[in-house]
Amino acid sequence: MSNEGGLIDQVGLCGSVVELSHPLVKHHLTRLRDEATPAAEFRLLIQRLAAFLSYEATKDLATRPADVQTPLANAAGDAICERIALVPILRAGLGMVDPILNLIPQAEVWHLGIYRDEETAMPVEYYSRFPPDRPPDVALILDPMLATGGSVMAALSALRDWGVSTIKILSVIASRDGLTEVVSRFPSVQVFVCVIDPILNEQKYIVPGLGDAGDRTFNTLPRG
Ligand code: PRP
Ligand code: URA
Repeated sequence: MSNEGGLIDQVGLCGSVVELSHPLVKHHLTRLRDEATPAAEFRLLIQRLAAFLSYEATKDLATRPADVQTPLANAAGDAICERIALVPILRAGLGMVDPILNLIPQAEVWHLGIYRDEETAMPVEYYSRFPPDRPPDVALILDPMLATGGSVMAALSALRDWGVSTIKILSVIASRDGLTEVVSRFPSVQVFVCVIDPILNEQKYIVPGLGDAGDRTFNTLPRG
């Protein structure tokens, strides 16, 4: 776990937050932040960073022995034995689904529709279809941006209500304040981020951040 900027000591996040420090993550993140990066490349970069985040976040998945016969001999092997759910927060979280499904093809995908009210920055839930029973063993909440933390905390509450015991958050950029809030209200949840940014501005945007992740992913930035 990295502790750049002393955040983890400062707010007691030890054990809850993993900030990636791989040079490839830093390289792709820099291109992602660039306002000149077009939507097609932005989507590719989100996919690459999501793959790195999921690699880190799935290191402790449980396996069971699963031997196979190679053309030459028996080989001892392993198979994942937990039910895993990907929970993308619409819209921007959708961009993280495919690369993680490539790595965990047996995962379930449960969509959560949440947007931030433009005036209040409070989360508004508009779509959720979790079934009443049989929660997965592990849920990965996918959202590239954790700003105030309101959206992921709404997702966390929904997953807790469903009965999911192990929940991890995968975000590309998190604000320091939002992370602090999430980890203090949900101390058992692990958060995996590519970077922690220092500032939330008056409109509750992350600074330096990357702007509006949903608009940049889906090429819906206001023209003009
Ligand atoms: C963005 C982002 C997160 C949320 C983060 O979504 O993808 O879901 O804001 O902000 P928070 O931590 O303060 O809640 P947005 O509301 O812009 O919806 P969209 O993806 O549909 O554009
Ligand atoms: N949502 C985004 O897409 N970007 C931010 O900086 C904050 C919320």
